[in-house]
Amino acid sequence: MTKRPGLAERSDPTGPRIGSVDLMVRIGPLTLLNPVLTASGTFGYGDEYAHVVDLGTLGGVITKTVTVKPRPGNPPTRIAETPAGMLNSIGLENVGLERFRREKLPKLRELGAAVVASLGGETPRELARLMEALGDEPGIGGFEINFSCPNVSKGGARYWAVPRRLERTLLMLRPLTRRALIAKLSPDVTSVADLAKACEQGGADAVTAVNTFVGMSVDLDHVRNRLNRSTGGLSGPAIKPLALARCWEAAAAVAIPVIGSGGIMSGRDALEFIGVGAAAVQVGTLSFVRPRGAGEVLDEMVAWLVERGVRRLDDWRGSLAPRPDEACAPRPSRGTLAERLRPRRR
Ligand SMILES: Cc1cc2nc3c(=O)[nH]c(=O)nc-3n(C[C@H](O)[C@H](O)[C@H](O)COP(=O)(O)O)c2cc1C
Repeated sequence: MTKRPGLAERSDPTGPRIGSVDLMVRIGPLTLLNPVLTASGTFGYGDEYAHVVDLGTLGGVITKTVTVKPRPGNPPTRIAETPAGMLNSIGLENVGLERFRREKLPKLRELGAAVVASLGGETPRELARLMEALGDEPGIGGFEINFSCPNVSKGGARYWAVPRRLERTLLMLRPLTRRALIAKLSPDVTSVADLAKACEQGGADAVTAVNTFVGMSVDLDHVRNRLNRSTGGLSGPAIKPLALARCWEAAAAVAIPVIGSGGIMSGRDALEFIGVGAAAVQVGTLSFVRPRGAGEVLDEMVAWLVERGVRRLDDWRGSLAPRPDEACAPRPSRGTLAERLRPRRR
């Protein structure tokens, strides 16, 4: 099937036509067909889902975070269900750089989707090694640097939550690739805006806001922690309002695109993130609940836009962004569309 740039096809011919809404997103040099990406660590290396999802219809696939050396991850138990969410303490289990190149990359090139490789390191030097190895590899449209893993003892979210360190590291990585460079941020910081600004200064093309929130779950009856570690990363619907606020805060602080992540379970959720300023969104935990979830998010999003006569996603972007001094009113400059879409009282 040939694709018109920026116009996604829809599998259900009876529903609103995706082709009638311009969904194209630009992240530095990377052009995405639409704004729905799969979040790192929740969609394997894409090929695991190829039999259930038409990957070519997604905006892109972000791989599991790759590190220089293979990592076995943390010992079990690494997943615990929580009210409206899940806690994980996987600990960056991955095949390592060499196997990634040899085994995963050839398959990623065949996916038919834009591929973003997630990279993780304990030090700036390790990230540079990864970028030296992968920065020019064909088939990778961009890199998301995982500056925000809450489940590792070295090089995790705390280590990277220092604006100056982020800026210096990105300045080091920037010359090593011409592909899109995205910085994924932790929500557990005093100011996500400060981190986003540092990434922009360092030459990132975009930031992702946000990774999982540090959480804890104990089993009172068995007097034990539910995870192998004291804490894990909380994801899913439970974090959506928190993630939405971080996403808005980051988007208000920088001129580069912000990719929203955290608790997106529907097209309406995705529209909220884009409404507060996100350029694109990531679907994570939903893929565990419904493997076709990312595609459904896209379909629902488009149906909503078509119903309201919005022809370009860009026209919706930022329509719900409150000004820093306002509680939650639409920005006057973007208010026209939000006002037009708001149901009127009779
Ligand atoms: C089981 C699991 C593994 C994850 N692994 C990674 C990872 O390797 N790298 C990364 O940047 N984020 C990882 N994440 C975080 C997700 O990419 C996403 O940012 C987060 O789950 C919030 O989105 P969600 O609420 O839609 O899941 C992982 C999340 C889960 C649930």
